[in-house]
Amino acid sequence: MHQGRTTLSKFLIQQLKGSPEQNDLAALLVDIAACVKAIAAMTAKGALGATHGEIDSTNVQGETQKKLDVLSNVAFINTFSMGGLVSGIASEENDEPLDIDPGDGSGRFLALFDPLDGSSNIDVNVSVGSIFSVLRVPEGGRTGLRDYLQPGRSQLAAGYAIYGPATMMVLTVGKGTHGFTLDREVGNFILTHPDMTVPAATSEFAINASNERFWEPPVQRYVNECKAGRNDVRGRDFNMRWIASMVAEVHRILMRGGVFLYPRDMKDPGMPGRLRLMYEACPMGFVIEQAGGLGSTGRARLLDLDPEAIHQRVPVILGSREEVERIERYHHEYDNGTDQQYTSPLFHERSLFAS
Ligand code: F6P
Repeated sequence: MHQGRTTLSKFLIQQLKGSPEQNDLAALLVDIAACVKAIAAMTAKGALGATHGEIDSTNVQGETQKKLDVLSNVAFINTFSMGGLVSGIASEENDEPLDIDPGDGSGRFLALFDPLDGSSNIDVNVSVGSIFSVLRVPEGGRTGLRDYLQPGRSQLAAGYAIYGPATMMVLTVGKGTHGFTLDREVGNFILTHPDMTVPAATSEFAINASNERFWEPPVQRYVNECKAGRNDVRGRDFNMRWIASMVAEVHRILMRGGVFLYPRDMKDPGMPGRLRLMYEACPMGFVIEQAGGLGSTGRARLLDLDPEAIHQRVPVILGSREEVERIERYHHEYDNGTDQQYTSPLFHERSLFAS
């Protein structure tokens, strides 16, 4: 028995004492932690668990589903259905939100989640994660789909689990961002990273560079300057990383700083971004802002966007404050025509990106 260890439950009881809503929120986060443990156990079995590989179906995004995507989704749905605290859920893996109100009005929350983020990493044994966001049922009760379309700044809680060499849960209830490590033998999440802070400055960026020719000029400008390093305007060398798992990238940024970009691009002109607003951008934006970082589309704060659809995609730029501010400035200069130097024949039609 370790002296003075703070379990997730103890931490939540301390952070969320007071109103019945806060007590219920603590209970809900403990339920989510139980679900995360079940998914951690499945992912840790690897090829021995018969959970590897694809199944013959696609989700609403048109992505081929992995067995673990489906199993993780079921784990979350069962958790929320049995917990009695949530009246509706929206998942990356379901076309429409699901009503699960126990009928007695006790479900005061809505839960939105990506049950297994970065699932292309499963079969190659690289870190994956789960992302969740908790909203309040609007005053006046449930009316339908619109209930979910609340801006990210309304989130009551958000966070993620990372299934890496260690399983961790990182969350915020609007009082800082805190990390818990799963003590597998005992089955408890222990507070190991209180008050996580994203350093304001960084020399590390993460972007899928294979999309470079489709980026807007402000993003090309930023990345080219980072790559040019110490002899150019940045005056220092930069390092680049790409894990193809947003959870793992955000986790690295929380641990040592950095900036993550999945910007708007022209690869598929019909798609304003790759990542989903409600269960990827908003929760990660909340977690990062509570740790002192920033989350933006390049033109607007992620948490201030007014959602239009459950599976809406947006550009995402988040991490160390100074870098995100710089990238926002580059977008601003480009939109205002004050960026004399950076133009690209590919992006001559400025109006293509106007919004
Ligand atoms: O959910 C989308 C996601 O898997 C993110 O976790 C990740 O950052 C991104 O897609 C990877 O995109 P790409 O396939 O372009 O590398």
